Amino acid sequence: MAEVRLVEVSKRFGSLPAVDRVSLDVPEGSFYTLLGPSGCGKTTTLRIVAGFYPPDRGDVFIGARRVNNLPPHLRQTAMVFQEYALFPHMTVVENVAYGLRMRHVGERDVARRVAAALSLVGLSGVERTFPARLSGGQQQRVALARALVVEPEVLLLDEPLSNLDAKLRVRVRTEIRQLQRQLGKTVLYVTHDQEEALAVSDRIAVMDRGRVQQIGTPVEIYHHPANRFVADFVGLANFVEADVAGPDVVRIGGVTLRVPLNRAAPEMGRGGTAGGRVTLVLRPEAIRLHRAPPQMDNVLPGRITTASFLGTLARYWVEAAGLTWIVDVPSPGETVYGGDVFLEIPPERTHILRD
Ligand SMILES: Nc1ncnc2c1ncn2[C@@H]1O[C@H](COP(=O)(O)OP(=O)(O)O)[C@@H](O)[C@H]1O
Ligand SMILES: [Mg+2]
Repeated sequence: MAEVRLVEVSKRFGSLPAVDRVSLDVPEGSFYTLLGPSGCGKTTTLRIVAGFYPPDRGDVFIGARRVNNLPPHLRQTAMVFQEYALFPHMTVVENVAYGLRMRHVGERDVARRVAAALSLVGLSGVERTFPARLSGGQQQRVALARALVVEPEVLLLDEPLSNLDAKLRVRVRTEIRQLQRQLGKTVLYVTHDQEEALAVSDRIAVMDRGRVQQIGTPVEIYHHPANRFVADFVGLANFVEADVAGPDVVRIGGVTLRVPLNRAAPEMGRGGTAGGRVTLVLRPEAIRLHRAPPQMDNVLPGRITTASFLGTLARYWVEAAGLTWIVDVPSPGETVYGGDVFLEIPPERTHILRD
């Protein structure tokens, strides 16, 4: 059953459609991420789920209940805001206890639940401290504890890691994912960071200009992007315009390549229908780089123009068939190539977009 369901939800600010006919099914107990560039409508969507904005159109369900007209504190949701929004004049304990006091929970239960929440996020020992004296990472944990302590059915997290430095972001995102699994909570998570989304999510909804562009698992989104926006926003990709030359055959420049046209665009290859155009999407690590011409099809001769050693991989810019290709070679050890090379384009790693 879907724990959170949005059906054709829209919200305008003046004439600007911030959220445009968004439909989502967030399964119970899943980690579901809204991913997209700044301004695409992620926060607005989250606020609609939390009840801070009413939608102009469409329906919001939590569990079996339509909640369009239900105030935030009755929705079984808790939100962690991007800037944490901690109360500066309250200690850590008072911040975390706040939601329980608002719900008139007895003092003994408040103390027990606050201590449990603080220990869950690894924050014991700073109970009497004020937020301003805490590091960004500690403040983030207080905000998380404050949301968890009310035992919401749905946890809403709006870019919770954006104020942390890069190393800490990776550590805390893993902790949040482990916590979600351990508690079996439904999490609706917002980020503009595609790597973060791939790393933690069960499902991702990619948004652009208020609209959902694609919903899928991280593997589906990365390997089978629905359109050019998704392919470009998530990971790095080579986009190659090609002419259809026959069944599963395309031409780029003067070179013929075998690609799985029929898998993605059945009408284009059938009976060798030539003349159509497609875009090939090739991830840098999908292309294989050879120093000597391999005895196989689908090979383009080329020349390395730039090489960049990145430790876990070497990244090359290669001129071939009149285009510049980005090619990643994993585990390069101490070897960085230059000069003439041959690019093998594996058909099974080639994704096709219709123009
Ligand atoms: N309270 C508001 N008043 C007017 N415009 C807003 C308001 N909140 C958001 N917007 C606009 O709506 C669009 C979506 O914003 P937002 O949901 O915050 O995007 P995101 O979280 O993806 O960066 C943006 O163009 C933003 O400027
Ligand atoms: Mg936002």
